Amino acid sequence: MSEPVQTPQTFPTRIFSGIQPSGGLTLGNYLGALKRFVEKQDEGIETIYCLVDMHAITVFQDPVRLRQQTREAAAGFIAAGIDPARSILFNQSQVSAHVELAWIFNCVARMGWMSRMTQFKDKAGKNSENVSLGLFAYPSLMAADIMAYKATHVPVGEDQKQHLELCRDIAIKFNNDYKVDFFPVVEPVIEGAATRVMSLRDGTVKMSKSDPSDQSRINLTDDADTIAKKIRRAKTDPEPLPDSVEGLKGRPEARNLVNIYAALAGHTPAQVIRDFGGAQFGTFKPALADLAVAKLEPITTEMSRLMQDPAEIDRILGEGAVRADAVARPIIDQVYDILGMIRSRQV
Ligand code: TYM
Repeated sequence: MSEPVQTPQTFPTRIFSGIQPSGGLTLGNYLGALKRFVEKQDEGIETIYCLVDMHAITVFQDPVRLRQQTREAAAGFIAAGIDPARSILFNQSQVSAHVELAWIFNCVARMGWMSRMTQFKDKAGKNSENVSLGLFAYPSLMAADIMAYKATHVPVGEDQKQHLELCRDIAIKFNNDYKVDFFPVVEPVIEGAATRVMSLRDGTVKMSKSDPSDQSRINLTDDADTIAKKIRRAKTDPEPLPDSVEGLKGRPEARNLVNIYAALAGHTPAQVIRDFGGAQFGTFKPALADLAVAKLEPITTEMSRLMQDPAEIDRILGEGAVRADAVARPIIDQVYDILGMIRSRQV
């Protein structure tokens, strides 16, 4: 689908990424995204992070729970190390630039491109006549999220790769159609040992907040006991850990636990195998449980402390939205101008 990149990358580095507040945050969200968002912020890069509530409603959300989950996700971001003074942190629906640009991108993206999105096919399943139009257009809104800020780099887990390729295609087509060099061609940043954390019950499917089994995932709200129990009960095979990373081939559950250990410890999987090669799961699982509790418990504790003051969370999101809007508004105004829209309303 990708055409050759025809626009020179003359855009300053700016990071954008988002997480849906459509359920609690999981260990997959933390290792695949949130932990890396914090690293990028701490490297001193300009970072904009968004709780994408407009994406969440592509499948029905109970309003009371959506509000609660959005605050909880914001608390999770801050507890994990996002500093609202250094990063812009806000919820999507407070900045109208996202939906304005999404409509324009709906008119740029092609039906064929959207129909090839594997996540849509997975989510819609056999029920594609009955899912929302929003679910089909979801990746176009995602491209708008990124391009509303002319972001150049997007840290995500592996499952978002195809959506980012679509974002590139939309930006290139817009630039070509209107003969401008306006939008950057975004770089996906998919790195580290845990770009695809798998279910604890089945190493061949992704760990997900929508999995019906709570045992399949670790939630950032789980207490120490629950985390340890879930890891002890995680599915494994009967063999000890291999002596090399290659030995993890064909052993999805073992590979998953090694990757989780590596990502939590900030090591490579090879280093984990160096330390635990030949060990039985009876030895490895308790070590992993201790590590997970040591890394996650402070976040969980801080999250529940922050959740005691929802007004303060709302204030932080509101302030972030004002700052986000200040970046996005001039970009959207230029887009309208490029499109030939009359903008004569006096304020
Ligand atoms: P969402 O909410 O499903 O997931 C948020 C982020 O967490 C990553 N992730 C995982 N990484 C590793 N292993 C897992 N098991 C796992 N589960 C989730 C996802 O890859 C993602 O980075 N469409 C996006 C949200 C979005 C967005 C954006 C992202 C909307 N607009 C603009 C980047 C830029 C989504 O549904 O993520």
